[in-house]
Amino acid sequence: MISITEILKDFPIFETKIHGKRLVYLDNAATTQKPRQVIEAISQYYETRNANVHRGVHYLSEIASEDYEEAHNKVAKFLNAKGMEEIIFTRNTTESLNLLAYSLGLNELEKGDNIVLTRFEHHSNLVPWQQMARRQGAEIRFIEMTEDCRLDLASAEKAIDDKTKVVSITHMSNALGTIIPVKEVSKLAREHGAYMIVDGAQSAPHMPVDVRELDVDFFAFSGHKMLAPMGIGGLYGREDILEKMEPFLFGGDMISIVSFDNATWNRLPWKFEAGTPNVSGGIGLAVAIDYLGKIGFDKIHYIEHELTEYAHERLNELSFIKIYGPEPKYKGAVVSFAMDGIHPHDIASLLDEDGIAVRAGHHCAQPLMKMLGTDSTTRASMYFYNTKEDIDALVESLQKIYKLFS
Ligand SMILES: Cc1ncc(COP(=O)(O)O)c(C=O)c1O
Repeated sequence: MISITEILKDFPIFETKIHGKRLVYLDNAATTQKPRQVIEAISQYYETRNANVHRGVHYLSEIASEDYEEAHNKVAKFLNAKGMEEIIFTRNTTESLNLLAYSLGLNELEKGDNIVLTRFEHHSNLVPWQQMARRQGAEIRFIEMTEDCRLDLASAEKAIDDKTKVVSITHMSNALGTIIPVKEVSKLAREHGAYMIVDGAQSAPHMPVDVRELDVDFFAFSGHKMLAPMGIGGLYGREDILEKMEPFLFGGDMISIVSFDNATWNRLPWKFEAGTPNVSGGIGLAVAIDYLGKIGFDKIHYIEHELTEYAHERLNELSFIKIYGPEPKYKGAVVSFAMDGIHPHDIASLLDEDGIAVRAGHHCAQPLMKMLGTDSTTRASMYFYNTKEDIDALVESLQKIYKLFS
């Protein structure tokens, strides 16, 4: 089994000193660090194989096309999709969800239909649907949150009905860490014939995802939150739905035959990938998936759960800290908290002086923050390369900050 020392050696960023201090990186829900293997794969691509894909018969173009297609296959296997035709590469989760909002929204959503979301949504899975609902005359409904910040499944039964066209929910809240029981919700969506969409930005990096087992139609994710470079993400879509669905972006590569007054579409998944894609990003993503496979999700879950429990335990020792969100057993490796009398931005700036990177703000979930009676929190989010020493450093620094302010 690979040790934490070996893991850390794979991440060059941890050699960087922040204000002369060891880097304690606790902002993984925003983006993760990249292992050497991913960084090297990207530079190797540009140094030895760079060419545009699907456009040339020359050697480099063929190799680049093969690698890019292989990356789709890798993602298909990672999510247990049927094959490459069900995997569309996008820039990120936001683009994947906009693709769906536009494509399904403009072509299938009618006045009187409703779209069901949860109270936990990131703005990426809220604002596109708000826009589409307004344009098409549809209604947005919400599955409620319980007192202890979990999903209220009873309210899902009330929200989803025969006028529900789309159910689009997060798999894990980035602001609170709450894990959402997707399968239970998808059962309800199925009963009412609605499309079932999952925002997997926070789940794909941390837990095994099986889109067939979850029984979902679409699953969106971002590469940069799971060791891959920025600018590459994806969307799983069920093949029979993608075949019928209208494209979102139009242009090169996504067409089959074009005349001056019409066009037909390329086969899947290229029908949904207009223009020159992010080839090096796709290759980096494939290497990131290999890396995650080498560590294993069992180990990732074990490390993260230990860290989350430890973070709760240590932060609960501090009388001036209030933790938002459910107990560790109901969530991923995210701890959102507030400190008596000190603004989250001040906390984050002072932590930074100790080399500790956390996030402060509304975490792109303003309505959720408002429901919790605040406008911002400080958020520490962990990954498998974090250690208990990182949590100790956070707690020590918070104690120092509190003393300074009081
Ligand atoms: C739950 C969730 N959904 C969507 C997003 C948007 O991801 P991206 O900015 O990579 O598109 C994030 C990013 O933090 C997220 O946490």
